[in-house]
Amino acid sequence: MTGTTAERRGPEEITGENFVFLQRWVHQETGIVLDDGKRYLVDARLTPLVRDEGLQSLNELCNLLRATRAPHLNRKVLEAMTTNETLFFRDLAPFDALRETIIPELVERNRAIRALRFWSAAASSGQEAYSLAMMLVEMGLGDWNIRIHGTDLSEQMLERARAGQYLQIEVNRGLPARYLVKYFEREGLEWRVQERLRRMVRFERRDLREPMASLGTFDVVLCRNVLIYFDVETKKRILGQIRSRMEPRGYLLLGAAETTFGLDNRFERKPVGGAVFYQIREQCE
Ligand SMILES: C[S@@+](CC[C@H](N)C(=O)[O-])C[C@H]1O[C@@H](n2cnc3c(N)ncnc32)[C@H](O)[C@@H]1O
Repeated sequence: MTGTTAERRGPEEITGENFVFLQRWVHQETGIVLDDGKRYLVDARLTPLVRDEGLQSLNELCNLLRATRAPHLNRKVLEAMTTNETLFFRDLAPFDALRETIIPELVERNRAIRALRFWSAAASSGQEAYSLAMMLVEMGLGDWNIRIHGTDLSEQMLERARAGQYLQIEVNRGLPARYLVKYFEREGLEWRVQERLRRMVRFERRDLREPMASLGTFDVVLCRNVLIYFDVETKKRILGQIRSRMEPRGYLLLGAAETTFGLDNRFERKPVGGAVFYQIREQCE
């Protein structure tokens, strides 16, 4: 017989107590709710980190998180536990609605100031923000004063977003081939967004649960595929923050599985083409 007793037993499983500790830790640091059924996710996301850090088990990782407050470990666990899935022109219909209806309306409204402001909240690695930039240039608005502000909790994702550098497999997802030729430059094995687009976009670390007053206000806020991870109270708080950052007739776009319904009745649902946007209800006098 080969292998030690420990090897034959397989890797040590996370104890119930440590899983509860991680649920609380992740909720406190990110707002994300890990249900009891998400042990597999903890295993899949944190086991590589346990290995990289030379630790014996997830239980040891939890003990270190509890005891030392080691910032590098905190950051790595946070990075591992956020889901960063994104792609260029995700879901298409909202981009069609922006191009065909919403942006033309905003252009009319803002013609005197020739400025448009967008907030890509939970921007991940930046594909949404750059998709907007490409769309605006295609619409002939490249010489307007355009500000696309991308925010996220994950430093790792923000670094990638700022670099605007993507793997072949990432530009294969959602990006029309002619945009790749027109707006990207080859850098080794990767593709980099051209500087003229990078100049339209700024990325900053923000926790959506924190006050946002210093961001200013926006004509369009895109906050997609992140509310799904939060509990009701956190969703309400975030929607309130977003509302305070919107121009009075501005638009909010959420992910396809997200809604303001039952969370914030100051928002009104506005179907536009094949997509659903939200606007702040006009106050009844
Ligand atoms: C699934 S991605 C969505 C990316 C993009 N909005 C999209 O729809 O393609 C979710 C993003 O939310 C970020 N996130 C999670 N919790 C956050 C928080 N409390 N504040 C800000 N961003 C957060 C994650 O880091 C991740 O990049």
